Amino acid sequence: MRTHIALALLLATVPASAAVTAVKIGERRQSFDDNWRFFKGDAPGAEAPAFDDSKWRELSLPHDWAIEGPFDPKANPHTGALPVFGTGWYRKSFTVPDSAKDRYLSIMFDGAQNNAHVFLNGVEIGSRPYGYISFSVNLTPQLRFGGQTNVLAVRLTPEDHSSRWYPGAGIYRNVWLDVTGPVHVGQWGTYITTPDVTDRQATVTAKVDLRNRTQTAAKVTLQTTVLDPSGKAVAKNGSAADVPAGGMQTIASNLTVARPQRWDLDHPAMYTLVAEVVDANKKVVDRYTTPFGIRTVKFDREQGFLLNGRHVKIQGVCDHHDLGALGAAVNKRATERQIEILKKAGTNAIRTSHNPPSPELLDACDRMGIVVMDESFDMWKRPKVPNGYSKYFDEWSERDVRDFVHRDRNHPSVIMWSIGNEIPEQGSPQGGEMAKRLTGFFHEEDPTRPTTSAFNSPEAAIRNHLGDNVDLFGVNYRPWQYEQFMKDHPTWIVYGSETASCVSSRGVYHLPIEKYEKHPSLQLSGYDIIAPPWAYCPDVEFFYQDKLPNVLGEFVWTGFDYIGEPTPYFGGGRGVDNSKDWPARSSYFGFIDLAGFPKDRFYLYQSQWTKTPMVHVLPHWNWPGREGQAIPVMVYTNAEEVELFLNGKSLGRKKRFSEPVVIPVGRNASPDQKFSSKYRLEWQVPYTPGSLKAVAYSGGKQVAADQVNTAGPAARISLAPDRATIQSDGEDLSFITVRVEDKDGNLVPGADNLVHFSVTGAGALRAVDNGSAASDESFQADHRKAFSGMALLIVNANKGQRGKIHVVATSDGLTQATTDVTAR
Ligand code: GAL
Repeated sequence: MRTHIALALLLATVPASAAVTAVKIGERRQSFDDNWRFFKGDAPGAEAPAFDDSKWRELSLPHDWAIEGPFDPKANPHTGALPVFGTGWYRKSFTVPDSAKDRYLSIMFDGAQNNAHVFLNGVEIGSRPYGYISFSVNLTPQLRFGGQTNVLAVRLTPEDHSSRWYPGAGIYRNVWLDVTGPVHVGQWGTYITTPDVTDRQATVTAKVDLRNRTQTAAKVTLQTTVLDPSGKAVAKNGSAADVPAGGMQTIASNLTVARPQRWDLDHPAMYTLVAEVVDANKKVVDRYTTPFGIRTVKFDREQGFLLNGRHVKIQGVCDHHDLGALGAAVNKRATERQIEILKKAGTNAIRTSHNPPSPELLDACDRMGIVVMDESFDMWKRPKVPNGYSKYFDEWSERDVRDFVHRDRNHPSVIMWSIGNEIPEQGSPQGGEMAKRLTGFFHEEDPTRPTTSAFNSPEAAIRNHLGDNVDLFGVNYRPWQYEQFMKDHPTWIVYGSETASCVSSRGVYHLPIEKYEKHPSLQLSGYDIIAPPWAYCPDVEFFYQDKLPNVLGEFVWTGFDYIGEPTPYFGGGRGVDNSKDWPARSSYFGFIDLAGFPKDRFYLYQSQWTKTPMVHVLPHWNWPGREGQAIPVMVYTNAEEVELFLNGKSLGRKKRFSEPVVIPVGRNASPDQKFSSKYRLEWQVPYTPGSLKAVAYSGGKQVAADQVNTAGPAARISLAPDRATIQSDGEDLSFITVRVEDKDGNLVPGADNLVHFSVTGAGALRAVDNGSAASDESFQADHRKAFSGMALLIVNANKGQRGKIHVVATSDGLTQATTDVTAR
């Protein structure tokens, strides 16, 4: 019942009737996200302008219908037990003034999930099967001008069993209108490289594609200007161009930037190239801006990855594209928040597993200093799932790759192109040729970056020459073989394209610690030692990375938990009733949970990846009934030494790296199935309630401390917004951490109290979560049970409304909490 009320509240925030968008002339790139109507199901004839869509739901893009649920025990757990398949229609009406008769209009979909068919005024004008690719469709031939209404319709038919994880469904990324004159810079028509960079100066080479849509040759001037990070023009060039009728001309210009600010991880300086087309009357008839960075990237067999000449170990994560409770619907702030959290663990790289990411992700990586392994495919011709990309590979792979590279090649964050993840053709004698073909497309469109692939059958990939046909040899889950691969192939550069796949649930500890097996709770112990047979705890990878400094680094599976693939809780298996493990529906692999709360493993990575002194102690300290029994206590630190105190009494000091902790691992990782980890400290502590405190020392001085206290009964709720002021653009978000605490403010570890939210004033409730991978509660309700004492509330401001967003959280028997977020 409450769910329905919540949904009604959410729907009430959209306008009452779908407006007709009036296209403005003069602005080249315009958001085309507003005023759409949506229908879930097939609607024969809905492409016709006269079709009556007045009963359809109104919404703004990006939109993911699948995240609205409901979760279904009969649906595929691999894709999150959500309705990621079926037919969906979107329609939008717009007008274009008569003054635009000499303009060219196209529409850019950053991504539509999937099998998109696009119609304008009843005529099909384009289609694209791959849900992760950005594509543009020319509107001009079917456009109606003046007072006449144009109707754009998009039909999507995502299929079940088309993905190994949650893909989302719908027009889940942004949509843009591109309005140009007859002579203009082509879509993704700039390619900016920095072939020579010194402290004194950088050469910026800008290749710009000029298009001429008229039937006569066009004499124009291409004016290129480099703006520095403060927006000041620092280099200019003018070149005459003679663009053939109906054709294209590429103009290359070199610009010199004095004393360049390098794009780097700690100082991600972004420059902008402004390309202007100037006609014979000195009028600027087109203006196209491209953000770019000045940096050097080198991959070296001996020295590893060099960014601006400095060695950087890749401390990367693999992440899928969903944004937790928001689903696949792109959101700039949610993307940025993920990166903020990842950076706190010391993450410096993201692998966009296993598909082209949203432009917003790459923009955020550019802005925030993260390097990216930009990945194209999870499969080629041989299927991993019955309805996956393999159906489209032959027809679309070349086009998809070339478009992908054109879209992404100006991002300084992108350092390598992946031609695929765990491609089944590793085992095929044709695999080498297929890898060569794809690498060829990438190199033709961007000779400055290496290609790579993530190999899970490296021997087969070597035998069938896939390894010979990529520039960087990515190895999934076999760090003990890095050395051998490098020895056998004296020119190859090797790294961990996918590592660990350790599984855990935040704040959950089972005693004794279970093996890799299902637990009745549908959760997995947070001691960070459980992993499926092909995988291993993070410590194993640390060991080989430390031992082999010329290995580029690693990409952990995964930074964030993601919807789908709830290993090991798959119920009856693919396509079969999931009720046995119901409601497990999202992954346990993340070192951060689905709500964005760090698990203990986050701190294990932080201890290895960061230098600012830190210490973290686990588990929680509420073990009623186990008084006097030994509880395993683990401590992660980057300091030299740690002293553990129970109720103020020292339990002794341990030096980091001094006393290895023996962890059970799979046979692949160690023949005796035991791994001695020097990356964590362990004490067996007889349980007495009170406080357990870890104090870290370096150079004899205390540098960090962490403490867990035995919590009393749940007494109150606390609310902590990540940002107290947000923009009133309808998209900016505040993520509010909800905690169930005892009367002294201690987190109550097992608390699962049901918390109700009221959001009033200038904003609205967007979504809720608690980070449990096993929950069938709606992400869009106005209430949520706590999981391990915590929940998440996401609010947005109403578009255009300033003022206070007032949040109240209540729960039976607990003192309520309130907080205000200001919408500006
Ligand atoms: C890998 C695969 C990932 C994910 C992971 C889970 O083999 O590339 O997509 O399935 O296993 O451990």
